[in-house]
Amino acid sequence: MRPLVAHIDLSAIRHNYDLAKRCAPGREAFAVVKANAYGHGVREVVTSLHDAADGFAVASLEEAAEVRALHGTARVLLLEGCFEPSECRVAAQLRLDVAVQGEEQAVALLASELPGPLNVWLKLDSGMHRLGFDAVALRAVFGRLRAAPQVAELNLMSHFACADERGHSLNEDQLECFLGLLDLDFDRRSLANSAAVLTIPAAHMDWIRPGIMLYGASPFADLGAAELGLRPAMSLRAQIIAVREVAVGESVGYGASWVAERPSRIGTVSCGYADGYPRHAPSGTPVLVNGQRVPLAGRVSMDMLAVDLTDLPDAAVGAAVELWGAELPIDEVAAHAGTIGYELLTKVTARVPRRYSA
Ligand SMILES: Cc1ncc(COP(=O)(O)O)c(C=O)c1O
Repeated sequence: MRPLVAHIDLSAIRHNYDLAKRCAPGREAFAVVKANAYGHGVREVVTSLHDAADGFAVASLEEAAEVRALHGTARVLLLEGCFEPSECRVAAQLRLDVAVQGEEQAVALLASELPGPLNVWLKLDSGMHRLGFDAVALRAVFGRLRAAPQVAELNLMSHFACADERGHSLNEDQLECFLGLLDLDFDRRSLANSAAVLTIPAAHMDWIRPGIMLYGASPFADLGAAELGLRPAMSLRAQIIAVREVAVGESVGYGASWVAERPSRIGTVSCGYADGYPRHAPSGTPVLVNGQRVPLAGRVSMDMLAVDLTDLPDAAVGAAVELWGAELPIDEVAAHAGTIGYELLTKVTARVPRRYSA
Protein backbone atom coordinates (compact mmCIF):
# COMPACT_ATOMS: atom_id res chain seq x y z
CA MET A 1 0.00 0.00 0.00
CA ARG A 2 1.23 3.45 -0.84
CA PRO A 3 2.53 5.03 2.34
CA LEU A 4 0.47 8.19 2.42
CA VAL A 5 -2.31 8.89 4.90
CA ALA A 6 -4.12 11.92 6.25
CA HIS A 7 -4.45 11.14 9.90
CA ILE A 8 -7.38 12.98 11.47
CA ASP A 9 -7.46 13.46 15.23
CA LEU A 10 -11.13 13.96 16.03
CA SER A 11 -10.36 14.77 19.66
CA ALA A 12 -8.43 17.82 18.40
CA ILE A 13 -11.55 19.02 16.58
CA ARG A 14 -13.63 18.64 19.73
CA HIS A 15 -10.93 20.45 21.72
CA ASN A 16 -10.91 23.29 19.19
CA TYR A 17 -14.71 23.50 19.18
CA ASP A 18 -14.70 23.73 22.98
CA LEU A 19 -12.05 26.44 22.78
CA ALA A 20 -14.24 28.44 20.38
CA LYS A 21 -17.13 28.13 22.82
CA ARG A 22 -14.94 29.22 25.72
CA CYS A 23 -13.87 32.30 23.73
CA ALA A 24 -17.52 33.30 23.42
CA PRO A 25 -19.17 32.26 26.67
CA GLY A 26 -22.89 31.83 26.54
CA ARG A 27 -23.03 32.05 22.74
CA GLU A 28 -24.03 29.26 20.41
CA ALA A 29 -21.84 27.99 17.58
CA PHE A 30 -22.33 26.80 14.05
CA ALA A 31 -19.40 24.47 13.39
CA VAL A 32 -18.52 25.27 9.78
CA VAL A 33 -18.26 21.93 7.98
CA LYS A 34 -18.54 22.98 4.35
CA ALA A 35 -16.13 21.55 1.77
CA ASN A 36 -16.17 18.13 3.40
CA ALA A 37 -15.36 19.70 6.77
CA TYR A 38 -12.39 21.57 5.27
CA GLY A 39 -11.14 18.28 3.85
CA HIS A 40 -11.39 16.31 7.11
CA GLY A 41 -14.50 14.27 6.23
CA VAL A 42 -17.92 15.67 7.02
CA ARG A 43 -19.36 12.35 8.15
CA GLU A 44 -16.71 11.80 10.79
CA VAL A 45 -16.55 15.42 11.91
CA VAL A 46 -20.31 15.81 12.32
CA THR A 47 -20.51 12.47 14.12
CA SER A 48 -17.67 13.50 16.41
CA LEU A 49 -19.34 16.84 17.23
CA HIS A 50 -22.82 15.32 17.33
CA ASP A 51 -23.47 15.93 20.99
CA ALA A 52 -21.32 19.04 21.34
CA ALA A 53 -22.15 21.34 18.46
CA ASP A 54 -25.15 23.64 18.58
CA GLY A 55 -25.32 23.66 14.81
CA PHE A 56 -23.43 23.22 11.57
CA ALA A 57 -22.89 25.53 8.61
CA VAL A 58 -22.46 24.49 4.98
CA ALA A 59 -22.29 25.99 1.50
CA SER A 60 -24.91 24.05 -0.44
CA LEU A 61 -28.14 22.13 -0.14
CA GLU A 62 -26.27 18.93 -1.00
CA GLU A 63 -23.88 19.47 1.89
CA ALA A 64 -26.80 20.34 4.17
CA ALA A 65 -28.66 17.15 3.26
CA GLU A 66 -25.58 15.15 4.18
CA VAL A 67 -25.34 16.85 7.57
CA ARG A 68 -29.06 16.48 8.21
CA ALA A 69 -28.80 12.74 7.53
CA LEU A 70 -26.12 12.55 10.22
CA HIS A 71 -27.88 14.77 12.72
CA GLY A 72 -31.66 14.91 12.90
CA THR A 73 -32.03 17.88 15.21
CA ALA A 74 -29.04 20.26 14.99
CA ARG A 75 -29.50 23.58 13.29
CA VAL A 76 -27.91 23.45 9.83
CA LEU A 77 -27.24 26.81 8.19
CA LEU A 78 -26.97 27.30 4.43
CA LEU A 79 -24.39 30.09 4.41
CA GLU A 80 -25.11 31.28 0.87
CA GLY A 81 -28.81 30.49 0.93
CA CYS A 82 -30.73 28.73 -1.83
CA PHE A 83 -29.28 28.85 -5.31
CA GLU A 84 -32.63 28.30 -7.05
CA PRO A 85 -36.22 28.92 -5.99
CA SER A 86 -37.05 25.20 -5.85
CA GLU A 87 -34.42 24.74 -3.12
CA CYS A 88 -36.51 26.71 -0.60
CA ARG A 89 -38.97 23.86 -0.34
CA VAL A 90 -36.24 21.26 0.10
CA ALA A 91 -34.58 23.48 2.70
CA ALA A 92 -37.84 23.57 4.62
CA GLN A 93 -38.25 19.81 4.34
CA LEU A 94 -34.74 19.43 5.76
CA ARG A 95 -35.52 22.01 8.48
CA LEU A 96 -32.54 24.16 7.54
CA ASP A 97 -31.63 27.69 8.51
CA VAL A 98 -31.11 29.67 5.33
CA ALA A 99 -29.22 32.83 4.55
CA VAL A 100 -31.06 35.27 2.33
CA GLN A 101 -28.29 37.20 0.67
CA GLY A 102 -29.99 39.01 -2.21
CA GLU A 103 -33.25 40.21 -3.69
CA GLU A 104 -33.68 37.10 -5.86
CA GLN A 105 -33.54 34.86 -2.81
CA ALA A 106 -36.00 37.05 -0.90
CA VAL A 107 -38.47 36.99 -3.81
CA ALA A 108 -38.08 33.21 -4.19
CA LEU A 109 -38.68 32.64 -0.50
CA LEU A 110 -41.77 34.86 -0.41
CA ALA A 111 -43.18 33.04 -3.46
CA SER A 112 -42.60 29.57 -1.97
CA GLU A 113 -45.19 27.29 -0.52
CA LEU A 114 -43.33 25.55 2.26
CA PRO A 115 -44.17 22.59 4.46
CA GLY A 116 -43.16 24.80 7.40
CA PRO A 117 -41.50 28.15 8.05
CA LEU A 118 -37.72 28.54 7.84
CA ASN A 119 -35.26 30.26 10.12
CA VAL A 120 -33.94 33.03 7.91
CA TRP A 121 -30.59 34.79 8.27
CA LEU A 122 -30.69 38.09 6.40
CA LYS A 123 -27.20 38.70 5.16
CA LEU A 124 -25.83 42.19 5.56
CA ASP A 125 -23.13 43.41 3.19
CA SER A 126 -21.22 45.27 5.86
CA GLY A 127 -18.22 45.93 3.63
CA MET A 128 -16.99 42.74 2.02
CA HIS A 129 -19.09 43.35 -1.10
CA ARG A 130 -19.49 39.70 -1.95
CA LEU A 131 -22.99 38.81 -0.75
CA GLY A 132 -25.74 40.52 1.17
CA PHE A 133 -27.94 43.63 1.29
CA ASP A 134 -26.54 47.02 2.12
CA ALA A 135 -27.93 48.57 5.30
CA VAL A 136 -30.70 50.51 3.58
CA ALA A 137 -31.86 47.56 1.47
CA LEU A 138 -31.70 45.29 4.48
CA ARG A 139 -34.11 47.46 6.42
CA ALA A 140 -36.55 47.25 3.53
CA VAL A 141 -36.30 43.48 3.13
CA PHE A 142 -36.61 43.07 6.90
CA GLY A 143 -40.04 44.71 6.68
CA ARG A 144 -41.14 42.38 3.88
CA LEU A 145 -39.99 39.21 5.62
CA ARG A 146 -40.88 39.97 9.23
CA ALA A 147 -44.50 38.93 8.97
CA ALA A 148 -44.16 36.45 6.09
CA PRO A 149 -45.63 32.99 6.71
CA GLN A 150 -42.47 31.40 5.22
CA VAL A 151 -40.33 32.87 8.01
CA ALA A 152 -39.90 31.51 11.53
CA GLU A 153 -36.93 33.31 13.13
CA LEU A 154 -35.70 36.40 11.31
CA ASN A 155 -32.00 36.77 12.04
CA LEU A 156 -29.08 38.95 10.98
CA MET A 157 -25.70 37.77 9.77
CA SER A 158 -22.65 39.28 8.12
CA HIS A 159 -19.07 38.27 7.38
CA PHE A 160 -15.73 39.96 7.97
CA ALA A 161 -13.36 40.59 5.08
CA CYS A 162 -10.24 41.26 7.15
CA ALA A 163 -10.73 39.70 10.59
CA ASP A 164 -7.49 37.79 9.93
CA GLU A 165 -5.65 41.13 10.05
CA ARG A 166 -5.86 42.30 13.60
CA GLY A 167 -6.49 46.02 13.86
CA HIS A 168 -7.56 46.39 10.21
CA SER A 169 -9.84 49.43 10.01
CA LEU A 170 -12.46 47.53 7.98
CA ASN A 171 -13.14 45.29 10.98
CA GLU A 172 -14.34 48.23 13.02
CA ASP A 173 -16.32 49.65 10.10
CA GLN A 174 -18.06 46.32 9.50
CA LEU A 175 -18.86 45.88 13.18
CA GLU A 176 -20.29 49.40 13.32
CA CYS A 177 -22.40 48.74 10.25
CA PHE A 178 -23.74 45.57 11.88
CA LEU A 179 -24.45 47.29 15.20
CA GLY A 180 -26.24 50.05 13.32
CA LEU A 181 -28.98 47.58 12.37
CA LEU A 182 -29.65 46.20 15.80
CA ASP A 183 -32.53 48.56 16.43
CA LEU A 184 -34.44 46.12 14.20
CA ASP A 185 -36.13 43.33 16.05
CA PHE A 186 -33.95 40.36 15.00
CA ASP A 187 -34.34 37.06 16.78
CA ARG A 188 -30.63 36.12 16.53
CA ARG A 189 -27.43 37.73 15.28
CA SER A 190 -24.20 36.21 13.90
CA LEU A 191 -20.99 37.84 12.69
CA ALA A 192 -17.87 36.08 13.92
CA ASN A 193 -15.72 33.69 11.88
CA SER A 194 -12.71 32.06 13.59
CA ALA A 195 -10.56 35.18 13.53
CA ALA A 196 -13.30 37.23 15.16
CA VAL A 197 -14.11 34.46 17.64
CA LEU A 198 -10.48 34.62 18.74
CA THR A 199 -9.88 38.37 18.75
CA ILE A 200 -13.06 40.47 18.39
CA PRO A 201 -15.30 39.74 21.38
CA ALA A 202 -17.63 42.61 20.44
CA ALA A 203 -18.51 40.62 17.32
CA HIS A 204 -19.56 37.43 19.08
CA MET A 205 -23.31 38.26 19.07
CA ASP A 206 -25.63 35.23 19.56
CA TRP A 207 -24.08 32.64 17.22
CA ILE A 208 -20.43 32.33 16.29
CA ARG A 209 -19.34 30.57 13.08
CA PRO A 210 -15.91 29.02 13.62
CA GLY A 211 -14.42 27.18 10.65
CA ILE A 212 -10.66 27.00 10.26
CA MET A 213 -9.96 27.06 14.00
CA LEU A 214 -11.93 23.81 14.45
CA TYR A 215 -9.33 22.11 12.32
CA GLY A 216 -6.43 23.54 14.28
CA ALA A 217 -5.06 25.99 11.73
CA SER A 218 -4.66 29.69 12.38
CA PRO A 219 -6.66 32.32 10.55
CA PHE A 220 -3.86 34.82 11.19
CA ALA A 221 -0.62 35.25 9.26
CA ASP A 222 1.22 36.48 12.34
CA LEU A 223 -0.17 34.24 15.08
CA GLY A 224 0.31 30.48 15.08
CA ALA A 225 -2.26 27.83 15.96
CA ALA A 226 -0.26 26.65 18.99
CA GLU A 227 -0.13 30.18 20.42
CA LEU A 228 -3.89 30.28 20.11
CA GLY A 229 -4.27 27.00 21.99
CA LEU A 230 -5.47 25.14 18.90
CA ARG A 231 -4.59 21.53 18.16
CA PRO A 232 -3.99 20.54 14.52
CA ALA A 233 -6.51 17.94 13.43
CA MET A 234 -4.90 16.68 10.23
CA SER A 235 -1.42 15.21 9.92
CA LEU A 236 -0.40 14.32 6.38
CA ARG A 237 2.01 11.43 6.75
CA ALA A 238 4.16 9.71 4.15
CA GLN A 239 7.46 7.85 3.99
CA ILE A 240 10.84 8.05 2.33
CA ILE A 241 10.55 5.57 -0.56
CA ALA A 242 14.02 6.03 -2.08
CA VAL A 243 17.36 7.59 -1.20
CA ARG A 244 20.22 8.51 -3.51
CA GLU A 245 23.52 10.28 -3.43
CA VAL A 246 23.72 13.32 -5.67
CA ALA A 247 27.07 14.80 -6.63
CA VAL A 248 27.87 18.51 -6.69
CA GLY A 249 26.41 20.08 -9.81
CA GLU A 250 23.80 17.34 -10.34
CA SER A 251 20.14 18.33 -10.31
CA VAL A 252 17.01 16.88 -8.75
CA GLY A 253 13.51 16.66 -10.18
CA TYR A 254 11.57 18.20 -13.07
CA GLY A 255 13.10 21.26 -14.61
CA ALA A 256 16.40 20.46 -12.90
CA SER A 257 15.64 23.46 -10.69
CA TRP A 258 17.53 22.19 -7.63
CA VAL A 259 21.26 21.68 -8.05
CA ALA A 260 23.50 20.13 -5.41
CA GLU A 261 26.01 22.60 -4.01
CA ARG A 262 27.60 19.90 -1.86
CA PRO A 263 27.59 16.10 -2.04
CA SER A 264 23.95 15.47 -1.09
CA ARG A 265 21.62 12.71 0.03
CA ILE A 266 18.22 13.09 -1.52
CA GLY A 267 15.15 11.33 -0.19
CA THR A 268 12.06 10.73 -2.31
CA VAL A 269 8.76 11.12 -0.44
CA SER A 270 5.47 9.39 -1.30
CA CYS A 271 3.38 12.53 -1.69
CA GLY A 272 2.88 14.87 -4.63
CA TYR A 273 0.59 17.49 -6.03
CA ALA A 274 -2.03 14.93 -7.05
CA ASP A 275 -2.43 14.32 -3.32
CA GLY A 276 -2.91 18.01 -2.64
CA TYR A 277 0.62 18.99 -1.69
CA PRO A 278 1.11 22.42 -3.29
CA ARG A 279 3.09 22.18 -6.51
CA HIS A 280 4.30 25.72 -6.01
CA ALA A 281 5.97 25.01 -2.67
CA PRO A 282 9.53 26.16 -3.30
CA SER A 283 12.77 24.42 -2.41
CA GLY A 284 13.40 25.03 1.26
CA THR A 285 9.80 24.45 2.36
CA PRO A 286 10.08 22.46 5.60
CA VAL A 287 9.25 18.74 5.68
CA LEU A 288 9.61 16.57 8.77
CA VAL A 289 11.59 13.36 8.45
CA ASN A 290 11.88 11.28 11.60
CA GLY A 291 10.70 14.34 13.46
CA GLN A 292 13.48 16.55 12.08
CA ARG A 293 13.03 19.43 9.67
CA VAL A 294 14.60 19.05 6.26
CA PRO A 295 14.15 21.24 3.18
CA LEU A 296 12.10 20.37 0.10
CA ALA A 297 14.46 20.01 -2.84
CA GLY A 298 13.29 20.85 -6.36
CA ARG A 299 9.87 20.75 -7.94
CA VAL A 300 7.00 18.78 -6.47
CA SER A 301 5.95 15.97 -8.85
CA MET A 302 2.49 14.47 -9.23
CA ASP A 303 3.05 11.58 -6.82
CA MET A 304 6.37 12.39 -5.16
CA LEU A 305 8.56 15.13 -3.86
CA ALA A 306 12.21 15.23 -2.86
CA VAL A 307 13.88 16.37 0.33
CA ASP A 308 17.49 17.07 1.15
CA LEU A 309 18.55 14.50 3.76
CA THR A 310 22.22 15.45 3.78
CA ASP A 311 22.03 16.68 7.36
CA LEU A 312 20.03 13.63 8.44
CA PRO A 313 22.38 10.72 7.69
CA ASP A 314 20.27 8.17 9.56
CA ALA A 315 17.14 8.76 7.51
CA ALA A 316 16.66 5.78 5.20
CA VAL A 317 13.96 4.19 3.09
CA GLY A 318 10.90 3.76 5.29
CA ALA A 319 11.63 6.84 7.43
CA ALA A 320 8.51 8.61 8.67
CA VAL A 321 7.57 11.86 6.92
CA GLU A 322 5.10 14.51 8.01
CA LEU A 323 4.18 17.06 5.35
CA TRP A 324 2.12 19.05 7.87
CA GLY A 325 0.22 18.34 11.04
CA ALA A 326 0.82 17.75 14.72
CA GLU A 327 4.56 18.45 14.52
CA LEU A 328 4.79 20.82 11.56
CA PRO A 329 2.22 23.64 11.43
CA ILE A 330 0.28 23.68 8.19
CA ASP A 331 0.35 27.47 8.26
CA GLU A 332 4.12 27.41 7.92
CA VAL A 333 3.96 25.15 4.87
CA ALA A 334 1.20 27.32 3.43
CA ALA A 335 3.24 30.49 3.93
CA HIS A 336 6.16 28.95 2.03
CA ALA A 337 3.81 28.00 -0.80
CA GLY A 338 2.20 31.45 -0.93
CA THR A 339 -1.19 30.25 0.23
CA ILE A 340 -3.21 29.62 3.40
CA GLY A 341 -3.94 26.56 5.49
CA TYR A 342 -7.56 26.62 4.30
CA GLU A 343 -6.47 25.88 0.75
CA LEU A 344 -4.08 23.10 1.67
CA LEU A 345 -6.66 21.36 3.88
CA THR A 346 -9.49 21.54 1.37
CA LYS A 347 -7.29 20.35 -1.48
CA VAL A 348 -6.11 17.07 -0.02
CA THR A 349 -7.43 14.82 -2.74
CA ALA A 350 -9.77 11.84 -2.55
CA ARG A 351 -7.00 9.33 -3.20
CA VAL A 352 -5.41 10.13 0.14
CA PRO A 353 -6.96 7.77 2.69
CA ARG A 354 -8.22 9.46 5.84
CA ARG A 355 -7.56 7.55 9.05
CA TYR A 356 -9.38 8.64 12.15
CA SER A 357 -8.55 8.53 15.81
CA ALA A 358 -11.31 9.33 18.25
C1 LIG B 1 -20.16 33.11 5.94
C2 LIG B 1 -19.04 32.36 6.59
N1 LIG B 1 -19.01 32.26 7.93
C3 LIG B 1 -18.01 31.61 8.57
C4 LIG B 1 -16.98 31.03 7.87
C5 LIG B 1 -15.85 30.35 8.63
O1 LIG B 1 -14.70 31.11 8.45
P1 LIG B 1 -13.31 30.64 9.12
O2 LIG B 1 -12.98 29.35 8.49
O3 LIG B 1 -12.36 31.73 8.76
O4 LIG B 1 -13.58 30.53 10.56
C6 LIG B 1 -16.97 31.11 6.48
C7 LIG B 1 -15.86 30.51 5.73
O5 LIG B 1 -15.46 30.91 4.70
C8 LIG B 1 -18.03 31.79 5.83
O6 LIG B 1 -18.05 31.89 4.50
